[in-house]
Order: sequence, then structure tokens, then C-alpha cells
Amino acid sequence: MNDFSIGIIGGTGGIGKLFAGFFADWGYAVLVKGRKKGPPLREIAGQCQVVIVAVPIAATLEVINQMGPIMPKDALLMDFTSLKGEFVKAMLAATEAEVVGCHPLFGPDVSSSRGQNIILCPARGERWLGIFRDLFAGKGAVVTIADPDEHDRMMAVIQGLNHFNTIMMELAVRDSKIKPSRLEKFSTPMFRTKQKTGKRLFGESAGLYASILTGNPYLPELIAMYEKNLSLLKGLIQRGDTSGLSELLKGKK
Ligand SMILES: NC(=O)c1ccc[n+]([C@@H]2O[C@H](COP(=O)([O-])OP(=O)(O)OC[C@H]3O[C@@H](n4cnc5c(N)ncnc54)[C@H](OP(=O)(O)O)[C@@H]3O)[C@@H](O)[C@H]2O)c1
Repeated sequence: MNDFSIGIIGGTGGIGKLFAGFFADWGYAVLVKGRKKGPPLREIAGQCQVVIVAVPIAATLEVINQMGPIMPKDALLMDFTSLKGEFVKAMLAATEAEVVGCHPLFGPDVSSSRGQNIILCPARGERWLGIFRDLFAGKGAVVTIADPDEHDRMMAVIQGLNHFNTIMMELAVRDSKIKPSRLEKFSTPMFRTKQKTGKRLFGESAGLYASILTGNPYLPELIAMYEKNLSLLKGLIQRGDTSGLSELLKGKK
């Protein structure tokens, strides 16, 4: 057994459960808590030197504010939230413990951390930051250190704009009223891959993606660029301007 224990609030499902499995495999004692399962927060604070908050975004501030004040100074409070600015600030305000923001850039469907990107946002203290940077890197993850602001700006593109684009396509397909069974008969592999992503956004992960899109302060300015380019593209298509569109795609316009 390694020399510290890890408590995961939200460790009964989703990304928290995935990491509970990873940490246990890596030799750490892990305590998990959900809404009904698991010990009270005070017990977790007493037993675990590291506490990770991995609950849905809408519940994250409340959990940070309950957990933060009961943690000792030499412990670590960390979160897995997909947005960092607001939540790293909240952790710093809620606790005197060391604080590190963490965003694993993958979902619960992966089987290993090997080759996966993980962002760490240093906030208070160096000791735990070094321990987790070395632990994740030692397990093959690609660890990048970033400040919360840079993280959120990048996520506005990687998650925000990307999911916005998928939603736009799915909404247009929905409005076209083409039967899904008929669409399937005409589908290409690339279209199927896109539809699979769309199903996740419109299905069981809808709440997560809705929070990611509405909570990122840098997404509106990217959507304004999207809108500008949408008008440009629409004009070229309506005018049948093939060479203009081709020049735009080659980056010459
Ligand atoms: N899913 C991803 O791909 C992914 C990737 C990276 C980061 N994240 C981030 O990780 C966090 C969790 O996302 P998720 O998708 O893993 O969520 P999820 O699948 O909905 O799982 C949430 C977990 O939180 C627990 N929970 C919910 N409300 C709670 C509360 N008030 N107190 C204590 N536990 C509570 C649930 O436990 P019970 O159901 O047992 O109550 C469950 O174990 C979010 O901040 C998200 O942005 C998600």
C-alpha cells in the first residue's frame, strides 16, 4: 500500500469511479462517496490526505464548500471539473489545504491512463503538485501544467466549439425530419462516427455537456467567429461560388 489515502467525492460513478479503479490498481487506499453511498465528509477528511471532487458541475461548488473547511493544512484538495477558473478559485477560498486543479481529458470509457492528456493547474503548494505530476506521468499520461485561465480558453475550443458544432449538425438533422432508419441506410463511416458523438451529447451526458457549454466564459467570443464564418460560407454556397469556397478552404481568403 502507498503512503497516502485518496477520497473521491463522486467516486461511485463516471470519471471519479474510473480514477478510483486506477488509484486502487496503483496501490492506494481509496474511499469513495456518492449521494447515498460512502462515509460522511468529515470521516473522509480524517482518513484521506488527498480528497478529489468529481461530482456533476452543478453540485461542485456546494461539495467544495462543505469539504474545504474540514481539511487539514497539509492535505490536498483537488477537483476533476471540466472548467477550472471558477472552481480553482472556489477551492482556494474554501480551504487552507494545498490545492491543485486537475482535468483528465478523457471519459470513463478508457481502460488506461497511458497516452492520455491530463491538465494540472497549480494553485496552492508544491508538494502534492509534484507527487501527482510524477504519479500520472509515471503511469504513462501526458501531463501538462497550465493556469486555469489558459485551460478554460483551450477548453472553449476543444470542448465548447467542438460540441457546439456537433449540436448544430444534430439539430439540423433533427429539423430535416429524415427518419433515422433511412439515414442509416445512406450513412458513410465518417457520418456514423459523428452521429455517435452526437448521441452522447443528446443522450445520457446531456447535463455534462450543457454545463460545459454554458459555464465557459470564453465560448461566446468563439461562437461570434462561428457565426461570422457561417454567413460567409452560406453566401458562397448560395451564390454557387465554387472557386471562392475552394480558396476559403485552402486558407487564401
Ligand atoms: N465524464 C467525463 O467524461 C468527464 C471527464 C473529465 C472531467 N469530468 C468532470 O468530472 C465531474 C463529474 O462528471 P461525471 O461525468 O463523472 O459525472 P457523473 O457520471 O454524473 O458522476 C457523478 C458522481 O457524482 C456523484 N454525485 C452526484 N451529486 C453528488 C453530490 N451532491 N454529492 C456527492 N456525490 C455526488 C454521483 O454519485 P451517486 O450517483 O452515487 O450519487 C456519481 O458518483 C464533472 O465536474 C465533470 O466536468 C467528466
